[in-house]
Amino acid sequence: MTYKLLRKKRTTVQLLIGLSFIVVLLLIVFFLFKNETFETDYVKIDKNKIDPLTADYDTFHLDDSRKSKQIKYGYELFINTAEYLGPKNGKRERSFSGNNLACNNCHLNAGTKPYSGMLIGVINRFPQFRGRENKIGTIEERINGCMERSMNGKPLPPNGEEMKAFVAYMHWLNQFAPEDGKVKGAGYARIKIPNRAVDLQKGEKLFLNKCASCHGEDGQGIALQDYPGYLYPPLWGEDSYNIGAGMARVITAAEFIKTNMPYGATYEKPELTDEEAYDLAGYINQQDRPIKTNPEFDFPDLKKKPVSTPYPPYADTFPVSQHQLGPFQPIMEFYKEEYGMKKTK
Ligand code: HEC
Ligand code: HEC
Repeated sequence: MTYKLLRKKRTTVQLLIGLSFIVVLLLIVFFLFKNETFETDYVKIDKNKIDPLTADYDTFHLDDSRKSKQIKYGYELFINTAEYLGPKNGKRERSFSGNNLACNNCHLNAGTKPYSGMLIGVINRFPQFRGRENKIGTIEERINGCMERSMNGKPLPPNGEEMKAFVAYMHWLNQFAPEDGKVKGAGYARIKIPNRAVDLQKGEKLFLNKCASCHGEDGQGIALQDYPGYLYPPLWGEDSYNIGAGMARVITAAEFIKTNMPYGATYEKPELTDEEAYDLAGYINQQDRPIKTNPEFDFPDLKKKPVSTPYPPYADTFPVSQHQLGPFQPIMEFYKEEYGMKKTK
C-alpha cells in the first residue's frame, strides 16, 4: 500500500470512529430524554391519585364539546337556578321551582364545599335506599326531591334537558371519587345534639346578632337587582324552602349552620358552638314557610322518618312540638328500644 492510500484509510477509520461516537452520544441523549417526553405526552392520568376534594372543578376550563356544554349548563342551572327554573323566569313552561332560591344557596361553592351537602362523589352514592320513600332511589329522583322540597316546586322531567344537565354536572364532580362515593366532607358534620329543647329566645338573639346583617331582621334576605335570585337568600317566608325540606329539620339545619354560617365558616373554622347552631336552627324553623302538599304521604314506613321531621304522623307518641324543638334524645332512645333503630337525624 502506498503511503497515500494508507493515509486515506486512516482518515476513513478516524471518520468512522468519530461518527459512531456522535451516533452513540445522540443515542444516549435520545434515551435519556425519551422517557420524559414519552411520559408527558402519553402518561395516563391516574384518577385514583387525584384528591377528589382539591381537584380542579372550574367549568371555565372545559372545552366546547357537546358534553362540556352540557356540564356547563348544569353548572349554570345550579348557580342561577331562579333565572332558569324559577317562578319569575318569564317562561311558564320552564318554571319548575316554586321559589327563587338556587341549589348553590345550600350546596355551597357549586356543590364542592365539604359538609354543605357536598356533591363530589354523589353519583357513586346512588342509587341509594331512601327512608322517605322506603325504596331504592336514583340520582334523578334525589334531585327532584330537592326540587319539590328545598325549591318548593315541581319535579323536572327525568329525560329533559335540565335534568340531564344537572346529572352531567354531577358526573363531572364525580370523576375523581372512589367507587363507593365515600368522600370526606359528604353530607353534613355531626354535631353533639344538646340534651334539651331548643331555646327560642337565645335563637332569636343569636339570629339578630350573627345572621340578620345578611339575611335581614325579617329573615327575607336581599334579592338580586337585575335577575331573579338572591344575594342573601331568605330563611323563611313564602320564598323559602317548604316544611318537607331537609333544611326544615332542626338537626339537619343545625349541622349545616354549624360548619357554614355565618358565611365563611368552615368545618375546620366554625364560628358557632353546637348549642348555638341548635338554637338558631330551631328559631329559623319555627317561622312560617310553605307547606309541602300531601306531607302525610311521605315516609310510607313511618319508623324511617327522621326524628326532627316537623310534621306528623309519627310512629311514636311524642308531641309534634318535641319533634320540632327537642329534646330529641328521648325520641331516639324510644326508636332504639322499640324498633332497634339508631337515629341520627
Ligand atoms: C334549602 C336548601 C337546599 C337547596 C336550595 C337545595 N338543596 Fe339539595 N339538599 C339539601 C339538603 C338539606 C340535603 C340533604 C338532605 C338529607 O340529609 O336528608 C340535600 C341533598 C341533595 C342531594 C343528595 C346529596 C347526597 O350526598 O346524597 C342532591 C343530589 C341535591 N341535594 C341536589 C340539589 C339540587 C340539584 C338543587 C337545586 C335544584 C338542590 N339540591 C337545592 C338542601 C338543599
Ligand atoms: C355575610 C353574610 C351572611 C351571614 C352573616 C350569614 N349568612 Fe347565611 N347565607 C349567606 C349566603 C350568601 C348564603 C347562600 C350561599 C351561596 O349562595 O353561596 C347563605 C345561606 C344560608 C342558608 C341556606 C339557604 C337558605 O335560604 O335557607 C341558611 C339556612 C343560612 N344561610 C343561615 C344562616 C344563619 C343561621 C346565620 C347566622 C349564624 C347566617 N346564615 C349568617 C350569607 C350569610
